[in-house]
Order: sequence, then structure tokens, then C-alpha cells
Amino acid sequence: MQQEAIQEITQAPTLEALQQVKTKYVGKSGLVTKELGALGKLPPEERRARGAEINAVRQAIDAALQEREGILKRAALDEKLASEAIDVTLPGLPLPAGGLHPITRVYDDLIGIYQRMGYEVVEGPEVEGEHHNFEALNIPWYHPARDLQDTFWLEDGRLLRTHTSNMQIRYMVEHDPPLKMVSRGKVYRYEATDATHESMFHQLEGLVVGEGISMADLKGTIAEMARGLYGPTAQVRFQPSYYPFVEPGADFAVYWNNPRGESKWLELGGCGMVHPNVFRAVDDLREAAGRDRIYEGMTGFAFGLGPERIAMLKYKIPDIRYFYANDPRVIGQFRGELG
Ligand code: FA5
Repeated sequence: MQQEAIQEITQAPTLEALQQVKTKYVGKSGLVTKELGALGKLPPEERRARGAEINAVRQAIDAALQEREGILKRAALDEKLASEAIDVTLPGLPLPAGGLHPITRVYDDLIGIYQRMGYEVVEGPEVEGEHHNFEALNIPWYHPARDLQDTFWLEDGRLLRTHTSNMQIRYMVEHDPPLKMVSRGKVYRYEATDATHESMFHQLEGLVVGEGISMADLKGTIAEMARGLYGPTAQVRFQPSYYPFVEPGADFAVYWNNPRGESKWLELGGCGMVHPNVFRAVDDLREAAGRDRIYEGMTGFAFGLGPERIAMLKYKIPDIRYFYANDPRVIGQFRGELG
């Protein structure tokens, strides 16, 4: 019986099978247990020797069970470990690489050009008061931009700024001339959107104030910007235009010498000499804040342009709405093009 039992034990393929063998021999009504139970029926002189014999068998079976159980448990563990193993030598999952948004890249180009000319770079609030967005900029009540239909208004009477020109006012209230600053940021207009018009877009505003600043300085600055953007042969064109906060005012375009033969005049933005009423409005705000009236009699120029136009031509993006549609097929093309 011992031999048979040990053979069955060593051949038990699983822990469950081993448990069955265990029950068969040393369970409550197992074969060995029964033999022990039968001891009482033996004459007393035989009981001792027979008892010792059965105990030896039992011990041998127990030892074999224990050994086999150890082996099977170890095998089960090995199998579990193997099935759950992580191969640390496998190549990792690719992390999607980001890239700078085309508008960020155009801004970086523009701001680099103005920083080399010594301009300070500032940002300002997108939620603005009517006074800073319109009145202080000499924009009269009858100007179309003041129409409820053309601007996003907040319930408390403030609005989403329609241009970055609000920063002309804010900057002059805080700083004394002479000054040179550019300001970047988002602006909002209640527009019917199309391929070249969005209701949220960006602008870069520039402002230079000092004594004896002239239109020639403005033209030279815009020409320098055009050369920085489009190379040394870039040409600039100025056409008279009306903005209430400048006098005289102009729109400027650059001739884009595209080597692929698509050269054309590209309207970039508006500019002009700061209107005396703007200086007066700034002095009023300064006075109210306890500062010196210092701007009356100053001269200066300002300009404002939309980087979307530049980016659309530079990166051949046919529709302005692609910039903000969050479609990775568009923006993903600039992945990895950092800096
Ligand atoms: C202005 O916003 C003036 N503040 C610019 C200025 C500043 C003039 C300082 C004089 C002195 P305008 O509305 O033309 O002007 O807008 C300027 C530029 O913003 C445009 O040339 C165009 O490039 C861009 N722009 C205007 N509206 C939109 C729009 N809906 N979507 C995308 N870009 C726009």
C-alpha cells in the first residue's frame, strides 16, 4: 500500500489530484486510517508491532504528500509568475510628441524682432472695461465696433476686448515716456466666421512714445519687421486709413517674395501716429490715479496686426478656423518643429 500510495502521490499532476490521493489514504475513512481503526480487533501482543508498522507507512505517506505538495505549489507559482511577467526589454509605448502651435511660432518670430529693437513685451486683460477698449482710444459712441452686435458683452457691463489697443492705455498709465512696448494676446469680435475671420483671434500691438517721434520712425520700424519676417528684400506699402486713435492712420502690407512664385501684397494690420485725444485720456486716467499728467505734447506711433494672416501664408493653411478646431491632423503637422 505504501508503494502504491507513494507512486500515486509522485504522479499526481495537480494540487486537486493530490488532495484526492490524500483523502484516499489518510482521510477520515482512508485506507491507512481504516487499518489503524482495525488495530483494536487484533490480539494485544500483535497490536504493538502492527501499530508501529502502520504508523511508519503513514509517516512515509505524509512525507511524500508534503514533498509533492511543495513541488506542485512551486510549479503553480512559477506558472503564475511566468504568465504575469513584464518584459522590461520591450520597447516602450510611444508618447505623442507635442509641438508649438503655428500662432505661437509666428508670435515668437515677431517678438524676437521687436526684442532685438529694444521693446518691452507685455500682456494684458482679455476682459476689459468699455473705457479702456473704446472711449480712451477716441472711439466715439457711433463707431460700428461699439454696436452691441459687434462685441461680446458681459452682464456686468464689461466686454471681451476687440483689439490689443487697450494695452496702449494701460501701459501709458503705468509707465512714463520714452517707451517702446509690444503686447500680444487674444481678442474677440462677434463676427460671422469665414476662411479669414474668426470670432477669437490674436493681435500684436506696438507702441512707441517719446519726443520727436515721427511717421518716418513708424515706417522704418514696420519695414524692419517685414525684413525680419520675410528676408532682406521685403517691401512695405502704406495706404491711408482711418482709426480713431491715430492721426494720420494707415494700413500696411508687405510684399511677400515667395520663391515659389506666389508673391503678393499681404495686408498685415493698421498703424498711425497716436492721436492727441488718446494722450489726453491717458493723462486723465493718470491724474485720477494720482500721477503726473505727462503725455500731453508727446509724440508716438502705434500699430496692430493679426498673426493669423502671417501664419496662414507661411504654413499654407487655407482656413483660419483650422487653427482652433483642435484637429490633430492640422496641428499635428507642426509636431516636433520646436523653436
Ligand atoms: C485694429 O484692431 C486696430 N486696433 C489696429 C491698430 C492698432 C491701428 C494701432 C492703428 C494703431 P483692425 O480691426 O483692422 O484694426 O484689425 C487689425 C488686424 O487684425 C487685421 O489687419 C487682421 O489681420 C486682424 N483681424 C481683424 N479681424 C479679424 C478676424 N475676425 N479674424 C482674424 N483676424 C482679424
